[in-house]
Amino acid sequence: MNNAVAGFSKLSKEEKINWIAKEYFSTPSEAIVLLKNYWNTDEKIQKLHDEFIENTITNFYIPLGVAPNFLINGKYSTIPMAIEESSVVAAASKSAKFWSTRGGFKATILNTEKNGQVHFIYKGDESKLALFFAQVKSKFFTDTENITKNMQKRGGGILDIQLKDKTDLLDNYFQLHATFDTKDSMGANFINSCLEQFAKTLKAEALTYELFTENEKDIHVVMSILSNYVPNCIVRAQVSCPIDELEEKHIENPQAFAERFVQAVKIAEIEPYRAVTHNKGIMNGIDAVVLATGNDFRAVEAGIHAYAAKSGQYSSLSHAKVENGIFTFWLEVPLALGTVGGLTSLHPLVKLSLEMLENPSAQELMQFVAVAGLAQNFAALRSLTTTGIQDGHMKMHLNNILNQFDANENERITIRKHFKHHAISHSAVVDYIETLRK
Ligand code: MEV
Repeated sequence: MNNAVAGFSKLSKEEKINWIAKEYFSTPSEAIVLLKNYWNTDEKIQKLHDEFIENTITNFYIPLGVAPNFLINGKYSTIPMAIEESSVVAAASKSAKFWSTRGGFKATILNTEKNGQVHFIYKGDESKLALFFAQVKSKFFTDTENITKNMQKRGGGILDIQLKDKTDLLDNYFQLHATFDTKDSMGANFINSCLEQFAKTLKAEALTYELFTENEKDIHVVMSILSNYVPNCIVRAQVSCPIDELEEKHIENPQAFAERFVQAVKIAEIEPYRAVTHNKGIMNGIDAVVLATGNDFRAVEAGIHAYAAKSGQYSSLSHAKVENGIFTFWLEVPLALGTVGGLTSLHPLVKLSLEMLENPSAQELMQFVAVAGLAQNFAALRSLTTTGIQDGHMKMHLNNILNQFDANENERITIRKHFKHHAISHSAVVDYIETLRK
C-alpha cells in the first residue's frame, strides 16, 4: 500500500521526485533518470516551465508540427500544430495544398462578444429587483473603472449588464449577465475581476436600497465567473469551387464525390453518433493550433461542443452544399482566444508559434484556428468517402509501430517496402518484424 504525504507542495523538486520514485517505482533510479532526461538543459527555460503549475516534476512532450501552404483570404500562412495523433498534420497540409489551387480558404469574424454571470439568490418581489437594478446599473460601471481603464484604452471593456430572472428554472435564482469586448486577450482574468466587483456592488447597493425589506436586502451571491459558452464570438471558415475543379487522385468523378461528401455532412447534421466523431475530426485541427498558440483548449472544447448542441440536439459544426455546380463547405465555431496575456508572452514555443503566424490579432488567430478545423474535417471526409480512413492512418501508424519495436534502418526499408503492397495492421506488422528477426 502507498503512503500519504504531508506538505508535498513544500518539498523541493528533487525531494518530490525522490519521494515519488521511492513510493511508486520498482527501480526508483530508472524513474529518476527518465524524469530528469526530460528537463530542459537551459535552467531558465526549465524554471519557467516549473512555475507554470504546482508540483512540476518534469516536462511532457508532444510534437509541434507545421502545416504549410494555407491560403487564407488571399494570403499564405504556415500553421503551427501541437498534437500527438500521427495523421493530423499530414491531413491539414494535404487539405491546405488542395484548396490553395482552388481559391483558398475564406475566413470571416461574425462577432467577438464574451460573457460572464454573477449568479445570485434573491428572495423577494421580482419587480422591485428590476427597479433596483435599473437604478444602480451605472454603479456597476463606475465601481469597475479601475479594472476597465486599460481595457478601454485598447478599445474594449464592458459592453452591457442585464438582470436575468431564472426563477422559472430554479427557485429565487437570478443573474447579472454581462457582456464584454476583451480585444486581443482571452479576457478570463479581466472578466472574472469585473464580475467579482459587480457581486460586491450588488450586495452593497442592495443593503441601502430603501424599497427593499430586510429580507430582500439580503442578496446571496452564489458565484461570479465567466462563461466558456460564447455563442456571440463566432468565426466562419469556408472553401468553395466549381464541382469539376474537385477532380484529383481518388476523386475521378467530382460530381459523385461532391454528392457523397454532402451526404456525409448531412448525416453528421442529423445523427449525433456520427456528429460527435465528425466534430472530433474538426477538433483535431482546432485543438492543435489552440495548444500551439498557448490558448485554453479545454475552454474552447467545452464552448464548441455546447454550440454544437445549441438546437437541443448535438449536431455537425460544418455544413456543405452543391448549388448551381458550385461545391461549398463551411463551418462556424465559437472561439474565445487571446494573442496577448496568459501563456502567450511566457512560453517560448508559444511566442515562436505566434511569430510564425506573423503575430496575429485575436480575430486573426480565430480565423487560423477555424480554417485548421475545416481543413481537418475536409481531409477526414475526403478519405472517409473515397479510400476509407485506415489507408492513410495505418501508413502513419506504421512509423509508431516501427519505433515501438526499435526497428533499425534496414528493417524499416524492408518493412515499408513490404507494406506498400500489403494491408497494414498492428498484428501484421508485428508478425512481419518477428519473422524478419528470426
Ligand atoms: C480521427 O482522429 C478523426 C476522424 O474519425 C474524424 C471523422 O470521422 O470525421 C477521422
